[in-house]
Amino acid sequence: MIPVIAIDGPSASGKGTVAERVAQSLGFHFLDSGALYRLVALAAGRSGISMGDTTALEKLAANLDVRFYQGNIYLNNQLVTDDIRSEICSRHASLAAAIPGVRTALLTRQRAFREAPGLVADGRDMGSVVFPDAVLKVFLTADPKIRAHRRYNQLMNKGIPASMQSLLWDIEERDTRDESRTVAPLKRGNALLLDTTTLTIQQAVDQVLAWFAEAQPGLS
Ligand code: DC
Repeated sequence: MIPVIAIDGPSASGKGTVAERVAQSLGFHFLDSGALYRLVALAAGRSGISMGDTTALEKLAANLDVRFYQGNIYLNNQLVTDDIRSEICSRHASLAAAIPGVRTALLTRQRAFREAPGLVADGRDMGSVVFPDAVLKVFLTADPKIRAHRRYNQLMNKGIPASMQSLLWDIEERDTRDESRTVAPLKRGNALLLDTTTLTIQQAVDQVLAWFAEAQPGLS
């Protein structure tokens, strides 16, 4: 059985960076499942589909022409790695993610990432729905203010203007929506809790690797 490490948690918790570094360190594949919801949002915007048109969004999710290649993401053969990180895409992705048919349409695509020698999957329902047999399930979180601050620094580094207050509101609004939706809501379940409020990225990575070594001796 190909091992999966599921890393779930709220927006801007740093789980993407942690998951990617864990994957690199183990030589595993990496799935950024949030990117798929962001791609649905971006593709909808580009095709003039409103975020209220559930049927059209489900169809779009089922037929997305997406390629993940060497750290970049392509939609219809166009580079969209940075475009899907905009705040509007974040907000619309959260709306798309609440539609059951969109989630179902993306299931097979996510499971196809499970390839030898292993996979680190980052998202909201990796351990609960997509890979319930994951060998290690981590719930990675941090205080909302710290998460808003981290997102603020990320945007500033890219030269994108941002307001701390509106980032915090957005994060809290998305947390509420992700936690309260009826399908695959964000919840810790039986995952190990990793609170990174006072941890560096490397400390968080080391903790996940240590848990994996315990869960799967011989593979780390
Ligand atoms: O992790 P992210 O911020 O890139 O995710 C974008 C949105 O997609 C976010 O609102 C939560 C949602 N999402 C989800 O519902 N399930 C996942 N497995 C991953 C992301």
